Amino acid sequence: MPALRDYLLTRRSVGIGFLQEPGPNAAELEQILTIGTRVPDHGKITPWRLVIIGGDDRARAGAALAEIAARKTPGLDETSLEIERQRFLPAPLTIGVISAPKPHPKVPEFEQLLSAGNVAFNLEHAAFALGFAASWITSWYAFDPAAAKMLGVRDGEKFVGFIHIGTPSAVIEDRPRPALADIVSTWSLPAA
Ligand SMILES: Cc1cc2nc3c(=O)[nH]c(=O)nc-3n(C[C@H](O)[C@H](O)[C@H](O)COP(=O)(O)O)c2cc1C
Repeated sequence: MPALRDYLLTRRSVGIGFLQEPGPNAAELEQILTIGTRVPDHGKITPWRLVIIGGDDRARAGAALAEIAARKTPGLDETSLEIERQRFLPAPLTIGVISAPKPHPKVPEFEQLLSAGNVAFNLEHAAFALGFAASWITSWYAFDPAAAKMLGVRDGEKFVGFIHIGTPSAVIEDRPRPALADIVSTWSLPAA
């Protein structure tokens, strides 16, 4: 499948500032979610959940983030507060990917977390496959307990990231990629 190969050879993220309308419609979103959650999952335990932030909820989520940021840092200046209010703009849609590990006799939490990471990246691939662009970020609100709770995590869960999706408004330059010689080696039996 040369088209798939070419996509994989050239894919690059498009940050939220360069994502605009149109975003996925309901049918496209369902496909993106279906593709995104078709990932390796040892034990078939579905150790992840997704939360969708779109439409007017983007501004509501941003306003709530600004309130949390103001509580954390009293006296935070207006420019910084405005950055928080705009966190989910201008991208039409964001999907929060939550690692939701479940106790399992054979599948360690580490593997369950990796499966959630696969969902995040697969959502990106799905977005590109449908003609959109996407990027994966965490930012402070993935890790701040109050912000993460406000955005949807429950006890024992954490965000692995937020996938912003939309139509690119600019052509993004590629970034340097690692030289294979620096990261690949051929295994041989270690000397005793
Ligand atoms: C788990 C994870 C979290 C990330 N969080 C951020 C972030 O908070 N802010 C940011 O600017 N980039 C973040 N990035 C990096 C962006 O996804 C970045 O645009 C990406 O590495 C570009 O690579 P690509 O062009 O191969 O897609 C994160 C990446 C990963 C894997």
